Order: sequence, then C-alpha cells, then structure tokens
Amino acid sequence: MRLSKSMLTLLFLASTSLAQSIGYTCNPHCITPTIPTTNHNLTFGTHYAVLNLDLIGLVASIANTTAGSAFINSTATWIDFIHAQHPPPLSIFSRVAFSGTRKAELGPNSPFTKVAGSVTPAESQIYPAFKVDEKAGDVVLDKSRYYAGWGNSLETILHAQGIDTVILSGLTTSGVILNTVYTLYNLDYKVYVIANNTIQTPGNVAPEVYTSILEGIIPTLPADVITVEQAMDAVKRSGPAVY
Ligand SMILES: *[C@@H]1O[C@H](CO)[C@@H](O)[C@H](O)[C@H]1NC(C)=O
Ligand SMILES: *[C@@H]1O[C@H](CO)[C@@H](O)[C@H](O)[C@H]1NC(C)=O
Ligand SMILES: *[C@@H]1O[C@H](CO)[C@@H](O)[C@H](O)[C@H]1NC(C)=O
Ligand SMILES: *[C@@H]1O[C@H](CO)[C@@H](O)[C@H](O)[C@H]1NC(C)=O
Repeated sequence: MRLSKSMLTLLFLASTSLAQSIGYTCNPHCITPTIPTTNHNLTFGTHYAVLNLDLIGLVASIANTTAGSAFINSTATWIDFIHAQHPPPLSIFSRVAFSGTRKAELGPNSPFTKVAGSVTPAESQIYPAFKVDEKAGDVVLDKSRYYAGWGNSLETILHAQGIDTVILSGLTTSGVILNTVYTLYNLDYKVYVIANNTIQTPGNVAPEVYTSILEGIIPTLPADVITVEQAMDAVKRSGPAVY
C-alpha cells in the first residue's frame, strides 16, 4: 500500500522513533481490563455488532513495527473469528473517504482537513490483512470526520437491526475509537473496546496518553475495555447472533 508523500512526511516528522512511540496494549504497560479476567460470565447477548474502524491504508505505516504487527495479528484474528461464527454477527467497517477529486466534505476551514486532507483514494481502502466478507453481510461505510457514523448510515443500520451492543476495534485510539465510544454511549448502546485491537499512531501522542484513554477515560464513562481473549470467550458464550 503506497502512502502519499505528505502523509509519509507527517508520519515521520511526528515520531522520532515510531516503534517506541506507538501506544499499544502492552506499551508502556499492559492495559488492565475493566472486567476482571477471572470473570467467566461476560456475554454480548444476541443483538451485537462488531465495528472495525478505519483499518485503512494508514496501517501500512506501522506494519513493520513490533506493536503494529501485534495489532494487525490480533485484529485480523478477531475479524476472522467473527466470520467463522454460525451465524456471523453484523460486522461494520468504516473508512476515511471523501467525495470526488475535490474531497467535497473538506473545506479550507475544516479542522479535519489538517488531519486527513492528504488521504488518497488508495489509502482509503481497507488494509488487505483485514477481510471484508460480503457473503456474511459485512458493511463498509465511508466517513468524513473522526466519529465512525459521521455522514453515513451507521446509526440507521444499528437501529434497523435492533443492535444493543457494539464491540470496537480500530485505529486510532484518540480519534475514531474515542469519538465513537462517546457518541454510541450517548445513543444508549452498550460499548466494548478491545484493547489489543486499538493502537495510537502516527505516534505524535505519548503512549501514556493512550493508556490514559483506555484505563482512565473510557472506563469513567463508563464503557468497558476488554482484551481480545475476553472478547472471543464472550462471543462463544453469547447466543446466536441476530442479523
Ligand atoms: C491482549 O492484551 C493483554 C493485555 O491487555 C495481553 O495480556 C494479551 O497477551 C494480549 N493478547 C494478544 C493476543 O496480544
Ligand atoms: C460474573 O462473575 C463475577 C465473578 O465470578 C461476579 O462477581 C458477577 O456478579 C457475575 N456477573 C453476572 C452478571 O453474573
Ligand atoms: C515494510 O516491510 C515490507 C517488506 O519487508 C516493505 O516492502 C515495506 O515497504 C515496509 N513498509 C514500510 C512502511 O516501511
Ligand atoms: C497471528 O500470528 C500467529 C502466530 O505467529 C499465526 O499463527 C497466525 O496465523 C496469525 N494470524 C493472522 C490472522 O495473521
């Protein structure tokens, strides 16, 4: 996956040492889940949806780091595990993507232009390690700001399918994850974030900030931060997904 020159510049200026500055589940220390790992009764019920957020070309910039490859492996393992369920639950992918050659959603005064204005159509594609299963009914939505439901039918789909619980993976933690946790929480969804499947990049945020989001801010809402192992166990314990 090729990254545009401006994005590469942004990425590499932003981090003196990308490998060290990535905030990941065990960097600087392993995230403590909000639900004790000794509890073996977590379930997602039957009306749950799996949200895989902004797993786009930007992933290539971290793929060669230890934290990045662990993130990719954990997230891909989760996505494949979900597709292997009978029946598979609703999976929704979001991508940062804009309309037309002029990227009409971005105005000269839109603050988000500074963040994502350089994303090219090629970079908007889902990173190949993550499989979209159209036969399983997976949905891919374009969004034009941080929140996963910005300018698309996310909320219509969740409502129409009677979803009450959402399980989030994606990058970045301070961007799409935090924004989507808050908004779906306010809309009365039960929100879970899989710590292993989130990552802070391009590395212009100290890893401690990432830890504070997952161990401090999200639990304070309160919403739950769990490990990928807990999420997979909970799916096994959940009823057949209704979708
Ligand atoms: C997931 O994260 C937890 C700590 O938050 C860690 O103990 C566990 O090994 C991680 N799992 C994987 C597959 O990386
Ligand atoms: C889940 O298990 C924990 C510890 O075993 C217990 O304290 C908690 O009440 C249980 N929750 C439910 C909903 O059964
Ligand atoms: C990562 O490694 C692969 C193969 O070693 C290489 O082709 C690719 O350009 C590297 N990506 C980055 C962003 O450095
Ligand atoms: C994750 O890593 C393990 C161990 O290296 C490997 O066996 C497995 O195929 C990987 N999974 C994915 C989805 O890449």
